[in-house]
Amino acid sequence: MALWGGRFSGQSSELFKLFNDSLPVDFRLLEQDIQGSVAWAEAITQAGVLTQEECQALTQALAELLAEVKDTPEQIIASGAEDIHSFVESQLIAKVGDLGKKLHTGRSRNDQVATDLKLWCKQEGAHLLSLLIEVKQGLLALAERELDAVMPGYTHLQRAQPVTFGHWALAYVEMFERDISRLEDALNRLNTCPLGCGALAGTAYAIDRQALAASLGFASATLNSLDSVSDRDHVIELCSDASISMMHLSRMAEDMIFFNSGEANFIELADNVTSGSSLMPQKKNPDALELIRGKAGRVYGSLMGILTTMKALPLAYNKDMQEDKEGLFDVMDSWSLCLKMAALVLEGVKVNRDNALAAAQQGYANATELADYLVGKGMPFRQAHHVVGEVVLHAIAEGKPLEALPLEVLQGYADIIAEDVYPHLSIDSCLAKRNILGGTAVEQVKAALTAKQAK
Ligand code: ARG
Repeated sequence: MALWGGRFSGQSSELFKLFNDSLPVDFRLLEQDIQGSVAWAEAITQAGVLTQEECQALTQALAELLAEVKDTPEQIIASGAEDIHSFVESQLIAKVGDLGKKLHTGRSRNDQVATDLKLWCKQEGAHLLSLLIEVKQGLLALAERELDAVMPGYTHLQRAQPVTFGHWALAYVEMFERDISRLEDALNRLNTCPLGCGALAGTAYAIDRQALAASLGFASATLNSLDSVSDRDHVIELCSDASISMMHLSRMAEDMIFFNSGEANFIELADNVTSGSSLMPQKKNPDALELIRGKAGRVYGSLMGILTTMKALPLAYNKDMQEDKEGLFDVMDSWSLCLKMAALVLEGVKVNRDNALAAAQQGYANATELADYLVGKGMPFRQAHHVVGEVVLHAIAEGKPLEALPLEVLQGYADIIAEDVYPHLSIDSCLAKRNILGGTAVEQVKAALTAKQAK
């Protein structure tokens, strides 16, 4: 039976019930709803609404209910209740009779759902934080294993300058560290409790809302009842933090898909995260990474969904807001799955050092070094840039790398070039010169890794 039948003489249509009910989605808030209900029972007991015995009976029945149904969501859904709040209340009434009907005194489903969802966000957010840290650890381990493996660095997907694999891995560590701090920030901001705000105007009972907030593990109570029941910023922030993080995961996936391609062949992915083709026996497809890249799109979709749902809602609660949960749940599920999968992929990545090095040696990735050499001999950089461009054109025509051009040929472009140019053109020298904070010199990458590991 619905919680609100008194005012109605007619029945809901079947279609309306299907359309309106949120239990098939919000059954996931069972634990939070019961936790909130226990805290509310205690709060209204303090306010003189219930006796200690009544409170005791209610909290015990709530605990029993949780134990009975928490592992059988299908049983919850089969109850046909309108939402998780109606489910818990009606089960409570079935257990303790009329006493169960007292629990909702001074409470509304509006402050109830806002509280349940924030409790869920806190719990799930903490889980996501631990997964982000795992991916970061996986990248640090990979950086350590492959610290000095050389590969081409790209801009415009054109070979630009050589970098080390460790440097590549630490680039993503920076991104995931920002994701971690963004999520921590969102969790701090959502750490306020809406319970006791009633339907919109505040509850009429003498509840100590700060004590209630503390009993639920919140840092404090929310300060404005209209805002409290209609605020879904935390849903938007988590979807937004997830979107940014999924963008990072997707870029990392894309890099590795390319590195793993037949054309690049810089890395090999482990068998446990790749699949074969039903037709082509030679294939080993990077499905895990492609799905990470693909799921980013669906997470962005949910962010757009909730932003659009909220944009024109008048204060305070509107049923539109019931649409917040499906997207949020899917976002947090997808994000957590992708982080787990990324950690597993990183564990098994093997770098094909010879191929990666050979690729770094091709494509004139040392052209900047030749320009810097000319600058060192007194030529202005812009002129050196032009001269080296001509040398590269020559080398391309001959199908040779810069270091294979004889000294006379080089001198034909700039007579200040001497025999000492050749060591400057080596990969080792390209790397070693970038021994500057944030640079790819092995020494710098080692220092960066050590600093991250010490954190
Ligand atoms: N199922 C609802 C939701 O998720 C609960 C709040 C309903 N409140 C109301 N006044 N109808 O938003």
